[in-house]
Amino acid sequence: MGFYEDYIKRTPGSQKAAERAQAIIPGGVGSAIQFWAPYPIYIKDSKGSRIWDMDGNEYIDYCMCYAAMVAGHANPVIAESIARQAKKGTLYGLPSSSATELAEEIHRRYPAIDMLRFTQSGVEATMYAVRLARAATHKDGVIKVEGAYHGASDVLLVSTAVPTTTAAGPAWMPSSIVESAGIPAGATENTFVVQFNDLESLEYQLKKHEGEIACFILEPCMTNGGVIPPDPGYLKGVRELTIKYNVLLIFDEVKIGARIAPGGGAEKYGITPDLITLAKAIGGGTPLGAFGGRRELMELITPLGPAVHFGTYNANPLTTTAGLTCLKEVLTTEKYKEMDELGEKYASGLEEIISRLNFPASVTHEGPLGGIQFVPEKPHTYREANQCNKDLWKEYWYGMLSKGVIPMGSGWFEEYSISAAHTVNDIEETLNITEDVLSSIKKKLL
Ligand SMILES: Cc1ncc(COP(=O)(O)O)c(C=O)c1O
Repeated sequence: MGFYEDYIKRTPGSQKAAERAQAIIPGGVGSAIQFWAPYPIYIKDSKGSRIWDMDGNEYIDYCMCYAAMVAGHANPVIAESIARQAKKGTLYGLPSSSATELAEEIHRRYPAIDMLRFTQSGVEATMYAVRLARAATHKDGVIKVEGAYHGASDVLLVSTAVPTTTAAGPAWMPSSIVESAGIPAGATENTFVVQFNDLESLEYQLKKHEGEIACFILEPCMTNGGVIPPDPGYLKGVRELTIKYNVLLIFDEVKIGARIAPGGGAEKYGITPDLITLAKAIGGGTPLGAFGGRRELMELITPLGPAVHFGTYNANPLTTTAGLTCLKEVLTTEKYKEMDELGEKYASGLEEIISRLNFPASVTHEGPLGGIQFVPEKPHTYREANQCNKDLWKEYWYGMLSKGVIPMGSGWFEEYSISAAHTVNDIEETLNITEDVLSSIKKKLL
C-alpha cells in the first residue's frame, strides 16, 4: 500500500465531511488552496503546534494557516483577549483605540510606515496599495514578479503559477499570464512581469514602459516556489532602480511581515520601500491586514485625499485587539530568537537527511519560514523552483500526512512555517518522520 492509500484509509471521517460540504460549497472548501485530491482533511480542533482531523488523527502543523498562525493555534493569551473584547463588542462601525495602539506598534516595528490603514485580508491590502500608488503617481502600470502571489485581485492575479513551456516567455521578459476566467482584459493590460533576483529583467521593463509605471510590488523574500531569499545586493538594486525610474516600491509583507524579523523584510534586509502591505502575523490568527507607508502617500486616502478606502469591518475592535495581543505579548524579542533557532535546526536537519540519502531536493529558508523543494539546487527564481519533481512532492505530501505531519501548505510551491508554539521536540519528531518518508520514496521511485 502506498502513502496515498494510507492517507485515504486514515481519513474516512474527512471523506464523509467532504462529501457533505461538496454538495453545498464548491469543492467543499473555502479557498481553492484548501483542496487536495481526493479530499482534504477536515479539522475539528487545534492547539499550539498541533491540529486534529475528524477522525481524531493528530498532526504537527507546519502549514499554520499559510503562516498566519504565528502565535500557534488557540494561543491562550490571544484567546483570552478575544473573549474579553467580544463581551464589549465585536464591531462598532466607529473607531476605537485598539486600532490606534496596533498601528503605533506596527510603526514602532516598521519606521517606514508613517501611517497605515487596516483591512481584513492580504488581498485587500495589496489591492489598495496599488490603487494608492496609481493615485499618487497618476500612472497605471504595475510591475510584479513572476510566480509571486499577492492575492486574487484582478490587477495582480497575473503570472502567479507559470507553465514550464515557452508560453511563459523569455526569462528577461516573462509573459503576463492572466490566472482566472472572468478578469476583463483591461484590468491586467498594465500589469508587467519580471523575474525575482534579476535586476536586468526589472530594468528592461522599467525602460520599456518608462513614464508609465506607478509601482513595483514584490515580496522582499519570495514565498511562492518554496522560500526564495533575495540574492545579496538584489533589493538594494531594486530600490536604486525604482528611484532612478521614479516608480514607487511596495514591499508585500503579507506573509513575511512581523515574521522573519519583528519589522519583517524591511528590517531584515535594511531597505526602505514607499509602501508596505501586511496581514497574517499582525492579526494574531484573526482576519486582519494593513497597508501603510510614507505620510504624504497615505494622506491621499479618503477622507484626506481622493483615493478611496472603505470597509464595514475595517479596524474592528476584535481583530485589532487580537493583533495587538499577538505583537505585544506573544511575539517578544525572545520569541523571534527562539523561532529563528528552531528554523535553523529544522532547515539544517532537513539538509542533513537530504544529503545522507542523496535525495534530489534542496532546502531554503529565512528564519522560521522555509521550503523543501524537489530540485537538486536551491532555486533563485520561481522558474527554477518550478522545475521541481511534482511526483516526488506528492509522495512526500501524502507520506508526511499519513504519518501525522502537515509538512507545509498544500502545494509544491508552498512553504513550511514554524510558529511561537513549535518546540525542539516537534522539530526532532518531524525530522525522524521525514527521514522515514524520504527513505521509502527513494526505494520506491528513485
Ligand atoms: C505575499 C502575499 N500577499 C497577499 C496574499 C493574500 O492574502 P489573503 O489570503 O489574506 O488575501 C498572500 C496570501 O497568502 C500572500 O502570501
